[in-house]
Amino acid sequence: MRFTGKTALVTGGNSGIGFAAAQLFIADGGRVAITGRDRAKLDNAVAELGENALGIVADLDDPNAIDAMFKQIQDSFGSLDIVFANAGISGPTPLGGTTAAAFEAILRTNLTAVFLTVQGALPLMSEGGSIVLNGSVMRQLGSPGSAAYSATKAGVTGMAKVFASELVGRGIRVNTVIPGGTRTPIWTRGARAGATLDGTEEALSPSIPLGRLATPEEVAKAALFLASDDAAGITAAEIVVDGGTTGAPWGAALYRRKS
Ligand SMILES: NC(=O)c1ccc[n+]([C@@H]2O[C@H](COP(=O)([O-])OP(=O)(O)OC[C@H]3O[C@@H](n4cnc5c(N)ncnc54)[C@H](OP(=O)(O)O)[C@@H]3O)[C@@H](O)[C@H]2O)c1
Repeated sequence: MRFTGKTALVTGGNSGIGFAAAQLFIADGGRVAITGRDRAKLDNAVAELGENALGIVADLDDPNAIDAMFKQIQDSFGSLDIVFANAGISGPTPLGGTTAAAFEAILRTNLTAVFLTVQGALPLMSEGGSIVLNGSVMRQLGSPGSAAYSATKAGVTGMAKVFASELVGRGIRVNTVIPGGTRTPIWTRGARAGATLDGTEEALSPSIPLGRLATPEEVAKAALFLASDDAAGITAAEIVVDGGTTGAPWGAALYRRKS
């Protein structure tokens, strides 16, 4: 068991990739605090995860809620070995149709809250700790209408490297998992309400060399590797879980020539 005796925080652990990561941490011996804004979803997730899960309602857009979250973790766990800063949102911000508030809402959750989460965790972490951020292939893809989301994910990649260099003296590693399209509720929320995961997969899979979306578990397994001592020699690195989308785009069905 890789995480026996270890404690982890998974932000956004009541859904999607975060929930899959929490399940895997617990299956591998760890105790996990999961957070989310939606109390009902959080309660259901904790019920499914069992006694080694602690549910904390926290809107990470609010710095006071981040402080309160760490107070609760300190009271329950005493210390933290692992942080998976995973919570995030997407949303359209097209040129010509986006307010400052809509743009900044994405920055606040995906960038500022990630910074404050890492900063807030540090007093609870010690030598051997591991921080994993959740980025996105959108850090490098020019997808119309995604300026704020892409900017935040490029920012996550940049911040992770800065964090890694700042924390190396404390023996804390910082790495990033970079998902491509993954089968989670993010594709059916907000502006995409009414869309289905199957419809999304059908639309996107021709541009993915492996021909399908990733599963949340596939992304979570990469995050857990980075979090574990198996990755003890790895910091300031990324693992891309995108079915080849960014590394081998011409292998996708969309581009393959029939010969
Ligand atoms: N799915 C993909 O295709 C994909 C691809 C690349 C990167 N990612 C990244 O993966 C991460 C996880 O997303 P997911 O795909 O698993 O989507 P998801 O199922 O929608 O999960 C998002 C999680 O973030 C939480 N969250 C959002 N805003 C929050 C806030 N202000 N405060 C606290 N929690 C907040 C949500 O909690 P509530 O529901 O309770 O609000 C939820 O638990 C995100 O950073 C996303 O950008 C996903």
